[in-house]
Amino acid sequence: MIDVRFIPTNIKDYQAIVVIDVLRATTTMVTAISNGAQFLVPVETVEQARSYKQDGFLLCGERGGVKPEDFDLGNSPLEYTKDVVENKKLVITTTNGTKALAKAREHSKNIILGAFVNFSKTLEYIKKFNDILFVCSGNDGEESFEDTQVAGAFIEKLVSFRKYELSDSALISLNFWKSIKRPTFTGKHSRVLKTYGFEDDIIFSQQLDIFNTVAIYDADKVIKGE
Ligand code: MLT
Repeated sequence: MIDVRFIPTNIKDYQAIVVIDVLRATTTMVTAISNGAQFLVPVETVEQARSYKQDGFLLCGERGGVKPEDFDLGNSPLEYTKDVVENKKLVITTTNGTKALAKAREHSKNIILGAFVNFSKTLEYIKKFNDILFVCSGNDGEESFEDTQVAGAFIEKLVSFRKYELSDSALISLNFWKSIKRPTFTGKHSRVLKTYGFEDDIIFSQQLDIFNTVAIYDADKVIKGE
Protein backbone atom coordinates (compact mmCIF):
# COMPACT_ATOMS: atom_id res chain seq x y z
CA MET A 1 0.00 0.00 0.00
CA ILE A 2 1.21 3.50 -0.78
CA ASP A 3 -0.53 6.46 0.77
CA VAL A 4 0.11 10.22 0.90
CA ARG A 5 -0.82 13.02 3.27
CA PHE A 6 -0.69 16.43 1.63
CA ILE A 7 -0.40 17.99 5.07
CA PRO A 8 0.84 16.28 8.25
CA THR A 9 -2.53 15.31 9.74
CA ASN A 10 -4.39 12.02 10.12
CA ILE A 11 -1.13 10.08 10.11
CA LYS A 12 -1.60 6.36 10.78
CA ASP A 13 0.77 3.49 11.50
CA TYR A 14 2.82 2.45 8.48
CA GLN A 15 5.81 0.20 7.99
CA ALA A 16 7.70 3.20 6.64
CA ILE A 17 6.98 6.92 6.56
CA VAL A 18 8.79 9.30 4.22
CA VAL A 19 8.62 12.87 5.51
CA ILE A 20 9.01 15.53 2.83
CA ASP A 21 9.76 19.21 3.30
CA VAL A 22 11.72 19.75 0.12
CA LEU A 23 11.73 23.55 0.64
CA ARG A 24 13.75 23.43 2.71
CA ALA A 25 13.98 21.35 5.89
CA THR A 26 14.47 17.84 4.51
CA THR A 27 16.78 19.08 1.73
CA THR A 28 18.82 20.91 4.37
CA MET A 29 19.04 17.92 6.72
CA VAL A 30 20.02 15.59 3.86
CA THR A 31 22.71 18.10 2.86
CA ALA A 32 24.05 18.27 6.43
CA ILE A 33 24.25 14.48 6.73
CA SER A 34 25.79 14.15 3.27
CA ASN A 35 28.45 16.72 4.17
CA GLY A 36 29.51 14.80 7.24
CA ALA A 37 27.45 16.08 10.16
CA GLN A 38 27.43 13.42 12.90
CA PHE A 39 23.67 13.76 13.33
CA LEU A 40 20.85 16.28 13.69
CA VAL A 41 18.32 16.37 16.49
CA PRO A 42 15.05 17.80 15.11
CA VAL A 43 13.07 19.67 17.76
CA GLU A 44 9.79 21.52 17.63
CA THR A 45 10.61 24.82 19.34
CA VAL A 46 13.36 27.45 19.31
CA GLU A 47 13.61 27.17 23.11
CA GLN A 48 14.20 23.41 22.91
CA ALA A 49 16.95 24.01 20.36
CA ARG A 50 18.64 26.59 22.62
CA SER A 51 18.87 24.05 25.46
CA TYR A 52 21.40 22.07 23.37
CA LYS A 53 23.86 24.95 23.07
CA GLN A 54 25.74 24.07 26.26
CA ASP A 55 26.46 20.57 24.90
CA GLY A 56 28.36 21.95 21.93
CA PHE A 57 25.61 21.60 19.31
CA LEU A 58 25.26 23.97 16.37
CA LEU A 59 21.84 25.63 16.65
CA CYS A 60 20.09 25.46 13.29
CA GLY A 61 16.80 26.38 11.71
CA GLU A 62 14.35 29.15 11.04
CA ARG A 63 11.20 30.94 11.98
CA GLY A 64 9.35 32.75 9.23
CA GLY A 65 12.11 31.56 6.88
CA VAL A 66 14.91 33.40 8.70
CA LYS A 67 17.54 32.34 11.24
CA PRO A 68 16.84 33.27 14.86
CA GLU A 69 19.52 35.82 15.77
CA ASP A 70 21.42 33.63 18.26
CA PHE A 71 21.42 30.53 16.01
CA ASP A 72 24.54 29.34 14.20
CA LEU A 73 22.86 28.38 10.93
CA GLY A 74 19.55 29.11 9.23
CA ASN A 75 17.59 26.72 7.04
CA SER A 76 19.43 27.27 3.77
CA PRO A 77 21.01 24.02 2.52
CA LEU A 78 23.82 26.13 1.05
CA GLU A 79 25.03 26.97 4.57
CA TYR A 80 25.59 23.29 5.45
CA THR A 81 28.94 22.87 3.74
CA LYS A 82 31.53 20.29 4.73
CA ASP A 83 33.78 22.81 6.43
CA VAL A 84 30.88 24.01 8.58
CA VAL A 85 29.15 20.76 9.58
CA GLU A 86 31.65 17.90 9.29
CA ASN A 87 31.76 15.86 12.55
CA LYS A 88 29.44 18.35 14.23
CA LYS A 89 26.30 17.66 16.26
CA LEU A 90 23.37 19.78 15.10
CA VAL A 91 19.99 20.60 16.58
CA ILE A 92 17.39 21.95 14.16
CA THR A 93 13.94 23.48 14.43
CA THR A 94 11.87 24.62 11.45
CA THR A 95 8.32 25.87 11.03
CA ASN A 96 6.84 22.77 9.40
CA GLY A 97 9.47 20.11 8.69
CA THR A 98 10.65 19.24 12.18
CA LYS A 99 7.04 19.20 13.41
CA ALA A 100 6.08 16.74 10.68
CA LEU A 101 9.00 14.52 11.71
CA ALA A 102 7.79 14.55 15.31
CA LYS A 103 4.29 13.50 14.23
CA ALA A 104 5.56 10.75 11.92
CA ARG A 105 7.71 9.34 14.64
CA GLU A 106 4.65 8.25 16.62
CA HIS A 107 3.54 6.03 13.74
CA SER A 108 6.53 4.14 12.39
CA LYS A 109 9.91 2.73 13.31
CA ASN A 110 11.17 3.56 9.82
CA ILE A 111 11.21 7.28 9.15
CA ILE A 112 13.03 8.47 6.04
CA LEU A 113 13.61 12.05 4.88
CA GLY A 114 12.42 12.73 1.33
CA ALA A 115 14.03 15.19 -1.09
CA PHE A 116 15.22 15.40 -4.68
CA VAL A 117 18.91 15.94 -3.87
CA ASN A 118 19.31 12.28 -2.82
CA PHE A 119 16.31 10.84 -4.64
CA SER A 120 17.79 7.62 -6.10
CA LYS A 121 19.54 6.53 -2.93
CA THR A 122 16.35 7.07 -0.94
CA LEU A 123 14.33 5.16 -3.53
CA GLU A 124 16.77 2.26 -3.23
CA TYR A 125 16.27 2.31 0.54
CA ILE A 126 12.45 2.51 0.60
CA LYS A 127 11.67 -0.05 -2.09
CA LYS A 128 12.07 -2.88 0.45
CA PHE A 129 8.95 -1.69 2.30
CA ASN A 130 5.46 -2.91 1.43
CA ASP A 131 3.55 -0.17 3.22
CA ILE A 132 4.74 3.37 2.74
CA LEU A 133 3.16 6.64 3.76
CA PHE A 134 4.50 9.88 2.27
CA VAL A 135 3.89 12.80 4.59
CA CYS A 136 4.19 16.21 2.96
CA SER A 137 5.00 18.84 5.58
CA GLY A 138 3.07 21.53 3.72
CA ASN A 139 3.09 25.21 4.64
CA ASP A 140 1.37 26.12 7.88
CA GLY A 141 -1.44 23.66 7.28
CA GLU A 142 -1.70 24.28 3.55
CA GLU A 143 -0.70 21.81 0.84
CA SER A 144 2.68 22.26 -0.81
CA PHE A 145 3.05 22.22 -4.59
CA GLU A 146 6.70 21.21 -4.16
CA ASP A 147 6.36 18.48 -1.51
CA THR A 148 3.63 16.78 -3.56
CA GLN A 149 6.02 16.59 -6.53
CA VAL A 150 8.52 14.61 -4.45
CA ALA A 151 5.82 12.16 -3.31
CA GLY A 152 4.63 11.69 -6.91
CA ALA A 153 8.17 11.16 -8.21
CA PHE A 154 8.82 8.41 -5.65
CA ILE A 155 5.49 6.73 -6.38
CA GLU A 156 6.16 6.73 -10.13
CA LYS A 157 9.38 4.78 -9.57
CA LEU A 158 7.97 2.45 -6.89
CA VAL A 159 5.08 1.30 -9.09
CA SER A 160 7.53 0.58 -11.90
CA PHE A 161 9.24 -2.02 -9.66
CA ARG A 162 6.12 -3.85 -8.48
CA LYS A 163 2.43 -3.67 -7.83
CA TYR A 164 1.27 -1.57 -4.89
CA GLU A 165 -2.22 -0.66 -3.89
CA LEU A 166 -2.46 3.13 -4.22
CA SER A 167 -4.70 5.36 -2.12
CA ASP A 168 -6.52 8.17 -3.89
CA SER A 169 -3.99 10.68 -2.55
CA ALA A 170 -1.18 8.51 -3.95
CA LEU A 171 -2.95 8.41 -7.33
CA ILE A 172 -3.40 12.17 -7.28
CA SER A 173 0.30 12.68 -6.49
CA LEU A 174 1.37 10.24 -9.19
CA ASN A 175 -0.76 11.81 -11.89
CA PHE A 176 0.21 15.32 -10.84
CA TRP A 177 3.90 14.38 -11.11
CA LYS A 178 3.35 12.73 -14.50
CA SER A 179 1.81 15.96 -15.72
CA ILE A 180 4.88 18.04 -14.84
CA LYS A 181 7.65 15.38 -15.21
CA ARG A 182 10.46 17.29 -13.51
CA PRO A 183 10.98 19.35 -10.35
CA THR A 184 9.12 22.61 -10.91
CA PHE A 185 9.28 24.82 -7.85
CA THR A 186 6.87 27.65 -8.46
CA GLY A 187 4.43 27.26 -5.55
CA LYS A 188 3.59 29.70 -2.80
CA HIS A 189 6.56 28.86 -0.57
CA SER A 190 8.95 29.19 -3.53
CA ARG A 191 7.57 32.65 -4.17
CA VAL A 192 7.90 33.58 -0.49
CA LEU A 193 11.49 32.31 -0.35
CA LYS A 194 12.32 34.39 -3.44
CA THR A 195 11.12 37.54 -1.71
CA TYR A 196 13.54 36.73 1.16
CA GLY A 197 16.40 36.38 -1.34
CA PHE A 198 16.61 32.57 -1.14
CA GLU A 199 16.33 31.91 -4.87
CA ASP A 200 19.53 29.83 -4.82
CA ASP A 201 17.95 27.48 -2.27
CA ILE A 202 15.12 26.80 -4.69
CA ILE A 203 17.57 26.02 -7.49
CA PHE A 204 19.62 23.83 -5.15
CA SER A 205 16.60 21.89 -3.85
CA GLN A 206 15.35 21.04 -7.36
CA GLN A 207 18.55 19.18 -8.20
CA LEU A 208 18.34 15.41 -8.57
CA ASP A 209 20.84 13.06 -6.97
CA ILE A 210 23.70 15.34 -6.05
CA PHE A 211 24.11 13.18 -2.92
CA ASN A 212 24.40 9.45 -2.60
CA THR A 213 23.17 9.17 0.98
CA VAL A 214 19.89 8.39 2.66
CA ALA A 215 18.84 10.26 5.79
CA ILE A 216 16.74 8.43 8.36
CA TYR A 217 15.20 9.57 11.63
CA ASP A 218 16.28 6.91 14.07
CA ALA A 219 15.30 7.24 17.74
CA ASP A 220 15.75 10.98 18.29
CA LYS A 221 18.36 11.69 15.63
CA VAL A 222 18.59 12.15 11.89
CA ILE A 223 21.51 10.02 10.73
CA LYS A 224 22.87 8.41 7.59
CA GLY A 225 20.95 5.22 6.75
CA GLU A 226 22.73 2.05 5.62
C1 MLT B 1 9.74 24.55 7.19
O1 MLT B 1 10.13 23.61 7.90
O2 MLT B 1 8.67 25.12 7.37
C2 MLT B 1 10.52 25.03 5.99
O3 MLT B 1 11.65 24.29 5.81
C3 MLT B 1 10.60 26.51 5.97
C4 MLT B 1 11.78 27.10 5.23
O4 MLT B 1 11.81 27.12 4.00
O5 MLT B 1 12.71 27.58 5.87
